[in-house]
Amino acid sequence: MTNTDPRKTSIMRELGKEHDITYRQEVLKPLFECIKSADSCYLIGAGSMGKTRLLDHLVRTDVQQHYLGERAAHTLIIRLDMNRLSDFSEWEFYELMLFNIVQVSGQCGIPEIEKKSASFLQTFLMPVLDHPGNTLKALRFLELVITNLMVVDEDLAICFLMDEFDEAYRRLPTKVFAHLRGIRDANKNRLCYALLVRNAPAYLRPNLMEHEGFYELLSRNPIPIGPYARQDVHAMLQQLEARFGYPLTEAIRDKIYEISGGHPGTVLAIFTNLRRTVEGVPYRFDPRWLIKEENVKEECRKLLASLEPDEQVGILEFAKGNMADASPLIKTLRLKKLLTSVEGQVPQIFSPVFAAYLQALPENTKPA
Ligand SMILES: Nc1ncnc2c1ncn2[C@@H]1O[C@H](COP(=O)(O)OP(=O)(O)O)[C@@H](O)[C@H]1O
Ligand SMILES: [Mg+2]
Repeated sequence: MTNTDPRKTSIMRELGKEHDITYRQEVLKPLFECIKSADSCYLIGAGSMGKTRLLDHLVRTDVQQHYLGERAAHTLIIRLDMNRLSDFSEWEFYELMLFNIVQVSGQCGIPEIEKKSASFLQTFLMPVLDHPGNTLKALRFLELVITNLMVVDEDLAICFLMDEFDEAYRRLPTKVFAHLRGIRDANKNRLCYALLVRNAPAYLRPNLMEHEGFYELLSRNPIPIGPYARQDVHAMLQQLEARFGYPLTEAIRDKIYEISGGHPGTVLAIFTNLRRTVEGVPYRFDPRWLIKEENVKEECRKLLASLEPDEQVGILEFAKGNMADASPLIKTLRLKKLLTSVEGQVPQIFSPVFAAYLQALPENTKPA
């Protein structure tokens, strides 16, 4: 490989201890079950709930080995970041898929596929890059690369993991969804899509009839991405402590877990804040004090803004004690794990800091 080879990527290493294999298992177990059976799905979680971090973890070879066992040697997980699209055209989308296939296949650890990857680059990706806007060429070459992969390894399964898909779901031309369905049908039982979104597909693209074929692939398999479990907050904090040389005690980690409800964005904001505050100040773990701090407030604002408008209204009403127990929004908010759902207990807002933020907002706050 030369230096200009686009297949060459650097893997970002975490400072501090890598996460245990059990990190986020409540999400990864159902996701890998879908991948194993080539069922498409969507992973739904509010803003800064750790969706992108989850992907950093699951591209690790040992993680895939853990969940897929011997299937790992015949599974290609291709991660696409929709933030890299600029105009959401068909060409751009297929080019991104092609680019990422070439990149992943070049370093996937499956010798026959790694061997082919250089020719994928020359034969399929380069000609597409030479003709920006030639949609048909990009689509056909994408299909050819997938067929080639499936032939090189007759046991191969492919999953496209598409991060930050909300805007793409709204803006991509309808034809893209028909073609994605077509590609999946041509490789039935061997190819699936997993989308990472903040909001439900039916909300993002309400005209379901128009993209029914694609929608029905995923609609039966929602996987909620809720707050971190206690051990995951501890692991995250330990990484931050190592990175910033700022050690915490076990009791403080627990305190942060408790007041953030396990929302990674809030955990990070509280940690950053803590480093700036004089130790021993009693109010530094008080949610009502924390929400006056800019970075914590901003995290809460982003979290609220990431919800659908009626969910925003609902959670505000709930925080202010104005919501009827039977409101259907309780169910939706529980699904997103923004309200706790412990059997036999009254639901509560998952994070005391977020609850304090909502309570402090003026009565007539409008959805963002
Ligand atoms: N294990 C971790 N260690 C350090 N920072 C983390 C960890 N998990 C999440 N974060 C931070 O929390 C924030 C939210 O996570 P992110 O994965 O970007 O959420 P989402 O993609 O759902 O919006 C980011 O700033 C991220 O860097
Ligand atoms: Mg993200």
